[in-house]
Amino acid sequence: MKVSIKGKTALVSGANRGIGKAITEALLDNGAKKVYAGARNVASLNELKAKYEDRLIPIELDVTKDESIANAANTASDIDILINNAGVLVPGNFTFGNMIESMQTNFDVNVWGLAKLTNAFFNKMKTSESAAIVSISSVAGLANMPVASTYSASKAAVHSIIQGLRGELRDTNVLVCGVYPGPTDTEMAKGFEMEKDSPENVAKNVIRAIEEGVEDIFPDVMSQQVGAGYMSSPKSVETQFGGILS
Ligand SMILES: NC(=O)c1ccc[n+]([C@@H]2O[C@H](COP(=O)([O-])OP(=O)(O)OC[C@H]3O[C@@H](n4cnc5c(N)ncnc54)[C@H](OP(=O)(O)O)[C@@H]3O)[C@@H](O)[C@H]2O)c1
Repeated sequence: MKVSIKGKTALVSGANRGIGKAITEALLDNGAKKVYAGARNVASLNELKAKYEDRLIPIELDVTKDESIANAANTASDIDILINNAGVLVPGNFTFGNMIESMQTNFDVNVWGLAKLTNAFFNKMKTSESAAIVSISSVAGLANMPVASTYSASKAAVHSIIQGLRGELRDTNVLVCGVYPGPTDTEMAKGFEMEKDSPENVAKNVIRAIEEGVEDIFPDVMSQQVGAGYMSSPKSVETQFGGILS
């Protein structure tokens, strides 16, 4: 199912920086009618608001707070496209480091936050002529990267949520996309010394993929290689990632 961006209304969580900001801009630059830009601190959206004026609606959104999600669902009741982007990477491992604390926070935001936000919107989106739910997992959601084990586990849960949603919404007007980026040059990845793609390039490829109806989106060179490896041999990706410990 192809979903054209032109004339659509979208909500992006974590729209104030990084990949979320780039996707917000790419949506508006590609003809979206309106984007609700979700951020914990709406003042952090001032620059985007000045640039896009009435087409950008700042909206206070903390995905760990039920009331905040309910308010967002009330305000943004007319969306066609939901971009589940908000996320955190709290370093933590299963055999060392702060396992409990990092599992808790990574799952609170990346998994519970995403699931609750989606649950608050999917019914309204069924009334749209053509809609899309786009959730950002990670290559680390396809195989665990022990450099961030508990984060990877949360992104694997996101991968499963995407598959579940796709099955549940199979006979509807809603395209369900999973995005599996590799290292991208944002605040989240600043501690990782490796080649990174730009958030703008990732966003451009995500938008193109939605318009082409691609369900599994590998938006950068590294993720395209991992995606191809994963499709032919998931075990080979596990082995490759298993060696990345720092
Ligand atoms: N960068 C990478 O290499 C990479 C690779 C694969 C996947 N990803 C995924 O891509 C998505 C975007 O990451 P990024 O790289 O753009 O990271 P980022 O620059 O750190 O941005 C994270 C965004 O999430 C928001 N956020 C955090 N906790 C939130 C909460 N409780 N409620 C609402 N918003 C919250 C942040 O808002 P504040 O400004 O208020 O903190 C910020 O807007 C994440 O899901 C991440 O896991 C990133």
